[in-house]
Amino acid sequence: TRPLKVALLGCGVVGSEVTRIMTTHADDLAARIGAPVELAGIAVRRPGRVRAGVPEELITTDATALVERGDIDVIIEVIGGIEPARTLITKAFENGASVVSANKALLADDGAALHAAAEKYGADLYYEAAVAGAIPLVRPLRESLAGDKVNRVLGIVNGTTNFILDKMDSSGAGYSEALDEATALGYAEADPTADVEGFDAAAKAAILAGIAFHTRVRLDDVYREGMTEVTAADFASAKQMGCTIKLLAICERAADGQSVTARVHPAMIPLSHPLASVREAYNAVFVEAEAAGQLMFYGPGAGGSPTASAVLGDLVAVCRNKLAESTGPGESAYTRLPVSPMGEV
Ligand code: HSE
Repeated sequence: TRPLKVALLGCGVVGSEVTRIMTTHADDLAARIGAPVELAGIAVRRPGRVRAGVPEELITTDATALVERGDIDVIIEVIGGIEPARTLITKAFENGASVVSANKALLADDGAALHAAAEKYGADLYYEAAVAGAIPLVRPLRESLAGDKVNRVLGIVNGTTNFILDKMDSSGAGYSEALDEATALGYAEADPTADVEGFDAAAKAAILAGIAFHTRVRLDDVYREGMTEVTAADFASAKQMGCTIKLLAICERAADGQSVTARVHPAMIPLSHPLASVREAYNAVFVEAEAAGQLMFYGPGAGGSPTASAVLGDLVAVCRNKLAESTGPGESAYTRLPVSPMGEV
């Protein structure tokens, strides 16, 4: 069987780990897929910054030329952000490549439009790594539960804020003290706005709601409230009531089934609830489906290796589809339920 050619866009923490695993586990990947996979090029912005172990001869700064080569089977996009990622992914589809992406900003901005572009060119779009790192959520919702009716997806999808809230809860620290600790340990970015103001969680909520309810949900449709106003006093009151405070993403189908809502905000949850025991930077997501009942997904929601695991799982799936000359679910699998940020709450 001919080798499948893979190009990587971006080679930071996740990309370099993807490269490492593709190289060291090449035989296993070939066995899983049924054909060898060959890394054909790696596009980066700053070649001088590429980590040790990444094959230098594959590095290019011309991402456009790489996706327009025409012989690439799968593009792995781990650049992040809206542009140039959107243009590159669209060009990849036009050139016959399928795409594996870890880009939550882009998928939350308009995942349905990207699915439509993929479908137009008979290509695949997989993005397990865009939501909660290694935790399988996208494919369980899109595929395993596609025959069921999901009514609610609820969980902790941001590790940085969970770390901060957990510190506040366990040590009585205030918000800024806990944030400083999260920064010192490398959880929080120098600019923690996207995490603490709930933008990161809202993007993940948009993606989860879209696939759980098979409809188009965009970041702007998600009601969002961050956790910067939560105080040590709030935790003390919560404790008196047998509760703790978590930043939750909540996606629900309205009782009449005719619309869906998605929101992110701090919420009190009873200590007896499984989400209360999610500590440090872990993520956990509850899914409630009509026939399946309650499911819980738990694990590391970020980091190079966990995110690379999700990317490689998608790579295997997309390569198998390529060999079978088929694709996974596309835009036409979507119904069109209206979305409102708060629904009937
Ligand atoms: N900043 C995110 C988090 C990383 O803390 O969960 C993964 O999207």
